[in-house]
Amino acid sequence: MKPKYAVFFICIVALVIIEKESNIISRVSDKLIQRQTPQTTLDYNNTAPRGSLTMLKMLLSKLIGAKGNFSDLSYFGRNSYRVGQKHILLLATTRTGSSFVGEFFNHHGDNMFYLFEPLWHIERMLTVPTEANNGQELGGIYRDVLQGLFLCDFSLLEKFIFPPPQDHITTALFRRESSFSLCEERVCSPVIKDVFERYHCKTRHCGPLNLTLAAESCLSKQHHAIKTVRVRHLDTLQPLVEDPRLDVRVIQLVRDPRAVLASRMVAFSSKYQTWKTWAQDGQVPEDNEEVKRLKGNCDNIRMSAEVGLSQPGWLKNRYMLVRYEDIARYPIQKAKEMYQFTGIPFSPQAREWILTNTQTTQEASGIYSTQKNSSEQADKWRFKIPFTLAQVVQRVCGPTMKLFGYRFVEDEKTLINKSISLLEDRLFR
Ligand SMILES: *[C@@H]1O[C@H](CO)[C@@H](O)[C@H](O)[C@H]1NC(C)=O
Ligand SMILES: *[C@@H]1O[C@H](CO)[C@@H](O)[C@H](O)[C@H]1NC(C)=O
Ligand SMILES: *[C@@H]1O[C@H](CO)[C@@H](O)[C@H](O)[C@H]1NC(C)=O
Ligand SMILES: *[C@@H]1O[C@H](CO)[C@@H](O)[C@H](O)[C@H]1NC(C)=O
Ligand SMILES: *[C@@H]1O[C@H](CO)[C@@H](O)[C@H](O)[C@H]1NC(C)=O
Repeated sequence: MKPKYAVFFICIVALVIIEKESNIISRVSDKLIQRQTPQTTLDYNNTAPRGSLTMLKMLLSKLIGAKGNFSDLSYFGRNSYRVGQKHILLLATTRTGSSFVGEFFNHHGDNMFYLFEPLWHIERMLTVPTEANNGQELGGIYRDVLQGLFLCDFSLLEKFIFPPPQDHITTALFRRESSFSLCEERVCSPVIKDVFERYHCKTRHCGPLNLTLAAESCLSKQHHAIKTVRVRHLDTLQPLVEDPRLDVRVIQLVRDPRAVLASRMVAFSSKYQTWKTWAQDGQVPEDNEEVKRLKGNCDNIRMSAEVGLSQPGWLKNRYMLVRYEDIARYPIQKAKEMYQFTGIPFSPQAREWILTNTQTTQEASGIYSTQKNSSEQADKWRFKIPFTLAQVVQRVCGPTMKLFGYRFVEDEKTLINKSISLLEDRLFR
């Protein structure tokens, strides 16, 4: 056999062996053919394909001696994901219950590394998306930051944290305390005097965050979940989902846009002043920027869902659409389905948290509160939104509402009649 063919043959054999161990063959060959993905700065011990890799390298070097240099193959040993490792991306928009649903994963247990809205830093530092760019330009940056974070590499995110971290130490990570894994003992550095209380964790008194420790904690966990409300176009994530080092599952969380508007008017009161004025006047100018923005948001959500539901190859079995209202009605069942979809066992801790936090009557304070009686909560917006505004939403978000099965109301009576459900039963998948 000519050496050229022999090399080829051995490669195939080796790849088959690797596949047996880690079922990443298709992704690996992708990588070999076309990829040049960034390396993580942090190395970690990869369990599965190491033996095969050593063998493959040995065989190759025997065959062609000093001629070849297979440094590329370090890929197998360093960066491919550990077997069973999952990367969950919870995609939503503001006021859709994403903090609440994020907790389903935050509470999974010791083997989960959860981050709450890391992209906040990027949006704050770069310009807020305008109607013209529609967030497209930011899409690539968001994706790259998410990719780094799933690989436990905080270096790109660090560039966006303000004030800039010193020696990878920061007091400014957005909502650190919302992530159990950033507040566990190993990540908890000593408290420094003069640092504001709010930088500390709820569960224990932690000093500023050492991002090196955070990365180490991240690497030690089998599963990773990130919740974000900033990704506007699902298709910008294709390279992330196809990254052979990751096993990404996307959960898109949607909610009735009328409920979202009602909730935003309360949570972001000053920003939504114009809407309040319109509600009082009973008149809404159709070509207003605010109305256009609402339409833009609805269209983005719908188009992302259409991409996901059409099941393109790159998203096959990696996309799930969930309505907040269904979670509110059947929290345990929906949580189970989400966990099943991700391939992670539904832990007793997560279950316990959900049970506690969907049955309580106690209203916790704060706009990001997750402690609510969820089924009661889910319908409250109907008494808060003026009918005029509900009509506007129905007009500009019509196609989105139809896709997700939210019923239109023709009069105020129906809007506030609780015995009429505005939710059609739908199965998306
Ligand atoms: C990686 O493996 C080496 C050799 O088996 C070991 O010495 C080292 O502690 C491991 N590192 C980690 C982070 O597990
Ligand atoms: C192998 O090739 C890579 C680039 O392809 C190069 O950076 C590296 O120095 C080479 N290593 C040796 C030992 O020749
Ligand atoms: C942050 O943690 C790393 C890893 O343990 C350590 O080497 C470094 O000294 C820490 N940084 C500070 C400023 O304490
Ligand atoms: C939550 O709200 C629902 C609907 O109003 C109600 O039936 C249920 O009793 C409440 N649960 C608790 C624990 O208060
Ligand atoms: C609410 O709707 C139900 C079902 O259509 C109807 O029977 C009931 O009279 C309505 N209640 C009010 C107050 O309009």
